[in-house]
Parts: sequence; structure tokens; C-alpha cells
Amino acid sequence: MTRLTRPLAAWAVALALGAPTLVQAQAKADPPITVRIDPGAQGPKIDRNIFGQFAEHLGTGVYGGVWVGKDSPIPNTRGIRKDVVEALRAIKVPNVRWPGGCFADEYHWRHGVGPAANRRETINSNWGGAVEPNTFGTDEFMDFVDQIGSEAYVSVNIGSGTVEEAAAWVEYMTADPQTTAGKERAANGHPAPYKVKYLGLGNESWSCGGAMRPDYYTDEMKRYARFVRNYNPKQTGAEAMQRIAVGPNQGDTAYTEAVMAAQKSHDWAWNIEGLSLHSYTTGGWPPSYSSTRFDETAYAKLLQETLGMDDLIAKHAAIMDKYDPDKKVPLVVDEWGVWLAPLEGSTPGFLAQQNSLRDAIVAALNLNIFARHADRVRMTNIAQMINVLQAMILTDKDKIVLTPTYHVYKMYLPFQDATLVPVSFDKGTYAQGDIKLPRIDATAVRDTQGKLWLSVTNLDPARAATIDLAGFKAASASGQLLTASRVDAINTFDAPNTVAPKPYSAKASAKGLMLEVPAKSILVVQLAPKV
Ligand code: AHR
Repeated sequence: MTRLTRPLAAWAVALALGAPTLVQAQAKADPPITVRIDPGAQGPKIDRNIFGQFAEHLGTGVYGGVWVGKDSPIPNTRGIRKDVVEALRAIKVPNVRWPGGCFADEYHWRHGVGPAANRRETINSNWGGAVEPNTFGTDEFMDFVDQIGSEAYVSVNIGSGTVEEAAAWVEYMTADPQTTAGKERAANGHPAPYKVKYLGLGNESWSCGGAMRPDYYTDEMKRYARFVRNYNPKQTGAEAMQRIAVGPNQGDTAYTEAVMAAQKSHDWAWNIEGLSLHSYTTGGWPPSYSSTRFDETAYAKLLQETLGMDDLIAKHAAIMDKYDPDKKVPLVVDEWGVWLAPLEGSTPGFLAQQNSLRDAIVAALNLNIFARHADRVRMTNIAQMINVLQAMILTDKDKIVLTPTYHVYKMYLPFQDATLVPVSFDKGTYAQGDIKLPRIDATAVRDTQGKLWLSVTNLDPARAATIDLAGFKAASASGQLLTASRVDAINTFDAPNTVAPKPYSAKASAKGLMLEVPAKSILVVQLAPKV
């Protein structure tokens, strides 16, 4: 893989210097792009769980990012950072996957419950050999998801644990307070059973989770699906715990076939309610693309790779359709995002990286793909929530900054539980060398209140686009626009608003409603119909 260290090309420098002539001239010369919305047609529901998060014990993702301890001078509620809770509440995080990742298959829950002084200190052998103090354990995680108003997605240890250990863990979390397990939980401060809405049956069992052959994993998975029971009396019907099996790594279909074939012939004694898919945008392995300095080729390559998510989902969905034509088992993309080179000076195993406007565009493109596959993709978890990989939030001691990706999640709030509305448009072409990409992407939804929203992403870093909502009688559009002077623009503790959404509005003229979408931007607007 080529290491790309060339500084930003002249095009970006010109844009950074605010040389508008080329862009404006092109925008004027380009004919409008017609986006046809069919407001009467109804697509699938976009499950709000596609906006899920992932928080692994990795680097400062949990320690420092979420947990600072009760005695910290950083404002906290029972050890959990208040600023982080406030920011996450604002994006209505539907679920948080925890404690890993690879960490999950070496996690022993007993090390992380009970009086803090008795917690065992261990080594996080997956991630930089850091000391794992186990001060953030089950009760702290449940407190955290409660504070942010989210659901728990707990991954149990299949790789180095036992069925007995996993069963005892979920018993601890969910049993009646009159049982021994429930009494122990009550003694630790929580008499009422916790709600464990999602249960991950291992993680990447084809690799760090035990390098298991698909059939071997499938046999193991059935035992966990059978014996790890949820005792919470309120978790019945729609609230019942959903078991998510390990599925494919990228395009490898072996796990998809094996797990779905097993699921098809399951009996009354066990079942699964989800199949996981992991797929990162890396630009090659090991990741060497910089998160702060990249040229236009690197920009285009990562977007191209991102767009591959569409075919990837289609490929696994086709196999799932074979075994599960009624689409009862969702595909859960529970690890995705840009995985770039570690930040200079950071501990390599901590997976610390910055987050640029480019990454926000990657997030929007992925969310659009998930929305279009909403019939099968009903949950996803971006990796990872804080300070790790494509994070929502970066922290350093008491400092906090929201990333461009965070802003995309906030702008897409109307998409949570919305209904997909079909759109058609000529995607056009943005070319960089041999790489040819669509110039724009667009999705439309009807939100839970019945309001119509349109999202347009302009991938082209130099050409603005005019969107003509032909045939759709809209009076106006209002919402938010995310862009910056450069695709590698980032938010820092000193300059936290370099990439921040700005209010956007447009009114229909005699020609109808036209939307100006600047180069390298994401627009999300509500369309007000003409009355
Ligand atoms: O997100 C980082 C790591 O990527 C996870 O621990 C693992 O599941 C995946 O390989």
C-alpha cells in the first residue's frame, strides 16, 4: 500500500485561501441535478438502532473518555463525565456495544463488579498492554447507558470464557433480587434487574475472538444462545433480549452461510436475532492513511472504499435472503468507520485518530447506504464512540471537542425510526485520476411526525451542485449544512468549531425549489410542502 504523505494539492490550498472563482464558475456552468422524490411511495422503516455506538476498553475510549472516577475534578455523575453524557444525550444514542471488540473475548465480568478497592487490575493485552483497572464494570456501564438514555448491547466472552461464565453474567444483570445473583447486584447498588436489550455472542470469532472455523463457531454459538438466559421479567415480547451472532468479516461469506444455515434449522431451544458484519474503511492494511494530512487521491480512495459498503451488504443480504426470506434476522453492522494511522505521538495500540470533514462525508455515505438497506440492516455501531477510531467525541483530561462525525449524527436525528422515501437522481461523476465516484448522494425520509426530510452529500471537493427538486411542490427547505474550507478540516480543543453545522434555508422561486449544495458538504433539510 502506498503511504500518502503529500500535502494537500493546489486545489485544496486554493479553496483554503478562499479562491472562489473556479468553484463558482463551475457551479454556474453546471446544469442543476434533478432529484425526484416520490413522497407517496413508502420504503422500509429506518430503525434508529442504525445510529448505535461502540465503546470498547481500548485506549482512552472508556477510561478518560467516559469514566473519570467519582473523585475526579472533572465534573461527573458517579464517575461518569457530565460533558460527555450531555453531548451523547443530544444525539439520542439508541444503543451502546460494550465491552469490545477483541477485548470482549478476554473480559471476565467478575473482575469488574463489587467494591472498587477489590477490583482486579489486569493487562489489556489487545490494546497497548495498558493496565485495565476494572473500575468501569457492569454496574458502571449500566449507569452510563441509563444516563445517556440508551440501550445496552453487551458482548459476552466466547473466545476465552465459558457458557457458565456468560450465563452467570447475564443472570447477575437480570435476575430477580430475591435470587443470589440478584442479591449480589442489589448489594452493589441496583436491586432492580437491568435491561440487556442486545447480547453479542462473541466478537470476530474468525480472528481475535478465537480463530474458529465457521462450523465450530456455530456449534459454540448455539450453546450460548440456549443457556445464556435473560431473567428480567419485563423483557418479553418486543422487549425480549436480541442475540447477535458473529457473522462475516468484510466480503468473506463463510460465516454468513454457516450461521444462517444453522439459524434456518434452529428448534425451539435456541435462536438468534441478528448476524454481525464488520467492515472498516482503511485504505489497506495496516492502516497508514493520515487522519490530518491527506491529498485528494487519498480522499477519493477512502470515499470509493466507503461506497463498497453497498455491494458488501447486498452480497451478505442475498445469502441471508436464501435462508431467511422473511428478513427476520437483521444484519447488524456492529463495527464500521474509518480506521486510519495512529496520531503522531499517540500509543499505537490506542487507535487514536483525528476526525475531518472527509470522515463526516464517510459517515453520511454509510448512513445513506444503511438507510437504503433498512429492510435487512436494522442496527449498526460506528467504531468507536470516544477517542478511538472514527469517534463522535475527543477528550483530553477536562477538555472535550465534538467531531465532524458527531455533527452528522446530530443532523441525521430526523432519520431515527423514519420511513425511507424513494428518490431518483443522476449521481453525476466526480473524478480524481482513475477514481470515478458519484458526485452526489441523496436520501429522503418521512420522520415519525410525518415531515419530509432530504439529505444531500456533495462528494466533489471543488464543485458546488444545484439540486432541482423537479416535480416536488415544496415551498421551502430548512435545516443544516456541514462543510468547511478544506476536506481535511478538523475540530481541535483550541478551534472546536472549524467543522460545525450552519443553519440553511431556501425558498421556492417560480422555477420551484432549488438547493445550492456547496462542494464537499452534507445538507439535511426539512421540505415544507406548498399549501
Ligand atoms: O474496533 C477495534 C477492533 O476492531 C475491535 O476490537 C475488533 O473487533 C476489530 O477488529
